[in-house]
Amino acid sequence: MTNFIHFFDQHAGTILIFGPIIILLIVALRDITQTQHTIKRNYPVVGVLRYLLELIGPELRQYLFHDERSDRPIPRYLRTWVYANSKRQLATVAFGTKKDMDKPGTMLMRHSHFPINSTEKELDIDHKVTIGSKRRFPYNASLFNISAMSYGALGKNAVQALNNGAKVADCFHNTGEGGVSKYHLDSGADICVQVGTAKFGMRHANGDFDENKFLELAHMDQVKMFEIKLSQGAKPGKGGVLPKEKITDEIAAARGIEKGKDVISPPRHKEWEDEEGMIRWIDDLQNKSGKPIGIKFCLGRKGFMRRLIEAIKKTNMMPDFITVDGAEGATGAAPQAHTDYLGYPLKDALMFIDNALREAGLRDEIKLIASGKVITGADLAIMIALGADLCQGARGFMLSIGCIHALKCNTNHCPAGIATHRPWLERGLVIKEKIPRVANYHHAVIHEFNSMMHACGKTHPSEFKRSDIMKVVDFHKIVTMDELIPQPPLKACQGETN
Ligand SMILES: Cc1cc2nc3c(=O)[nH]c(=O)nc-3n(C[C@H](O)[C@H](O)[C@H](O)COP(=O)(O)O)c2cc1C
Repeated sequence: MTNFIHFFDQHAGTILIFGPIIILLIVALRDITQTQHTIKRNYPVVGVLRYLLELIGPELRQYLFHDERSDRPIPRYLRTWVYANSKRQLATVAFGTKKDMDKPGTMLMRHSHFPINSTEKELDIDHKVTIGSKRRFPYNASLFNISAMSYGALGKNAVQALNNGAKVADCFHNTGEGGVSKYHLDSGADICVQVGTAKFGMRHANGDFDENKFLELAHMDQVKMFEIKLSQGAKPGKGGVLPKEKITDEIAAARGIEKGKDVISPPRHKEWEDEEGMIRWIDDLQNKSGKPIGIKFCLGRKGFMRRLIEAIKKTNMMPDFITVDGAEGATGAAPQAHTDYLGYPLKDALMFIDNALREAGLRDEIKLIASGKVITGADLAIMIALGADLCQGARGFMLSIGCIHALKCNTNHCPAGIATHRPWLERGLVIKEKIPRVANYHHAVIHEFNSMMHACGKTHPSEFKRSDIMKVVDFHKIVTMDELIPQPPLKACQGETN
């Protein structure tokens, strides 16, 4: 060591000049001779900068270059709205809107010239919606709920934070297709159990549906509803693969699967061949469980709704609710083509399904839940005016517990400790800090919804109509949504809803 220090002392100048040159020559030689990367081969040493910039490009764009409305999938101004409201920080804006009001596609709401004089208390009312009124255990659902995200796609701390938050907010927490884990039962919050194509959490070892396990769940007081997933907007036509690396003991227990093997979710259910078979299967489970059971799908072909309605008319059996998920929906991991090309966007699908049910006189019995970028109270108001009874949100709730839009849900490296099972990353998500944020966010959505409703001169969500929404269809041409897609009157239905 002393010899080395002595040598360095004597030759410091030479080492400092020639050392880096020798290193650069070695790197250049390596770059020129390697065969994998053309850019490095053609531009030795400096070529590596291109790979470095590509690596940090998403972060540079997100933090420095994207303006707050152009970032996707969830623009910064919406993320900021969620962050501020979930922390109960200042969420007002100054100096006017940054929204381009004239741009074709822009949606606006038509306020009343005699708005409601509301009190703070009235703005906090969550106008609940009864689902499955014909069942032994109907459920009164909040206007805004936590959409399906499985334990598996999310880590345990995230599931626990959302579940406890749902309890405080008094909304339901959808388990997603990964089964019911102990973290979904943590707080006693209402849960909607999703039944995916792999029947996780209610399957025999060979993957077949296990009715006894289903009934065990149905008998739990906390389990308020079941949602049978036909498809989701982020990846219609695709089941999923849960890689063996992500299967911990707890995930294996929740899903009822073996460790050490990849688990495949098929793209469809095998228990029925058509719409009629599906509603007969659902009817059997509704009778046995007494709980509301609905279906979730992203609309692909309109003929599906026509055949579903024909089957309902023929059998007098029906799902208690339909969750319509827009093609703009998200997931933990999806093939790009399935995300970009398949399915109807939410608003169009919602209006179509609402119209089909109204025309069939089924609108009162089948509730419509909408999901797909419903982030704010204004989004909720627009969906309800277009035809929904209530909504579910996934990414909004992820943002409320600290999602930073890193777009890494598919890597197990989520820096916010949400979509990961890495203990170090999960450690960062402190459950007790996030519970109030989930509830605050839910509260803000309901509050803003009521505020918009009162601005439109209405006192109940059922008064919202498509004519309350206008759309810029061309420069200086604005039409109401009812003019674009008329909403048929309720036929042969009794009672409330829009
Ligand atoms: C991380 C993650 C996991 C999801 N897992 C499921 C799932 O298990 N089942 C399902 O039907 N949808 C799943 N979804 C889709 C959401 O439930 C929802 O339908 C979609 O993201 C649209 O809502 P959003 O725009 O509010 O995120 C998942 C979404 C995310 C972001």
